[in-house]
Amino acid sequence: MGKKTVFSGVQPSGALTIGNYIGAIKRWVPLQEKYDCYYSIVDQHAITVPQEAKDLRKNTLDIIALLMACGIDPKKSTLFIQSHVTEHAELAWVLNSITYMGQLNRMTQFKDKSKRSDENLNAALFTYPVLMAADILLYKTDLVPVGDDQKQHLELARDLAERFNSRYSDTFTVPEPLIDKSGARIMSLQDPTVKMSKSDSDENAYILILDDEAAIKRKIKRAVTDSVGEIAYSDDQPGIKNLINIYSNFSGDTVEDIVQRYKGRGYGDFKKDLEEVVVEALRPIRESFEEIRSDKSYLEEVYREGAKEASYSAMKVLRKVHKKIGFIPR
Ligand code: TYM
Repeated sequence: MGKKTVFSGVQPSGALTIGNYIGAIKRWVPLQEKYDCYYSIVDQHAITVPQEAKDLRKNTLDIIALLMACGIDPKKSTLFIQSHVTEHAELAWVLNSITYMGQLNRMTQFKDKSKRSDENLNAALFTYPVLMAADILLYKTDLVPVGDDQKQHLELARDLAERFNSRYSDTFTVPEPLIDKSGARIMSLQDPTVKMSKSDSDENAYILILDDEAAIKRKIKRAVTDSVGEIAYSDDQPGIKNLINIYSNFSGDTVEDIVQRYKGRGYGDFKKDLEEVVVEALRPIRESFEEIRSDKSYLEEVYREGAKEASYSAMKVLRKVHKKIGFIPR
């Protein structure tokens, strides 16, 4: 039996937060030892919201370097830029033809984003989950490690795989989500009822993976808590619960151990230790990022090689799909 296949992606639409790190990237690293992993910087997804070309270029390279600094090893995984493998867009077109408008209308991320935007909405924002399904299905992916916010998109990918298989015979693997319990949804430090997001207008709401020591400490100090004054892991204290999740994910200590350790102690003590835990966990990533990012020719070698490897698998699947739906082979 061959190894199982893992696929996941991240948008190069700005600097990444510790939400991206805890919910996804940190968990991608150990999977490399056991599975065939494909990790993609999904630039085609990023243009569903307006981007400055020069920023998109910079962010894409930053994120390749950052993924490597976080421990993604291009010798173990296939690390590539989505737009370099043209089969993604081609398969998305085919999948569009079996996706119902009603399904896309129900996507909560689309509903949220379209509510926030007062400009004309673009069609790509609407069909984005279909491109995401193509990303996943193109590699016969078994497992998709993501944060909680991607769950609904993954259900669509599963649904489209099943629909295609039943209409045209068995072709796609039906993927399973890999969603962690304590790290699935890291919340804003300013409003623990909403997800931590790089697009938040308040920069105190998120910690970036590349934030320096002073910024990390400042943001944790200012993180909202509550007036209960007790370190407990409870939905009634969402601010503290979120900070405990962050502590647990960066230190490796269990939630129970943390709650026990801070029993009877104040938020100030807890936050001080949390500052150290986060600063020390992110320091090696920041240092390694600087080194990798400065070597442009190495980065180029990595993403070129990655695209070659990814294209090889993607081409085979797309060819099969085209044949089944009745396109004449080239
Ligand atoms: P993106 O770029 O928004 O986020 C990348 C990953 O980070 C996770 N994440 C979080 N996890 C926990 N708490 C948070 N606050 C938090 N914020 C972000 C996301 O769940 C995601 O796993 N559509 C995807 C990218 C994508 C993809 C794919 C993922 C495109 N194709 C195929 C998996 C498979 C997205 O916009 O992620």
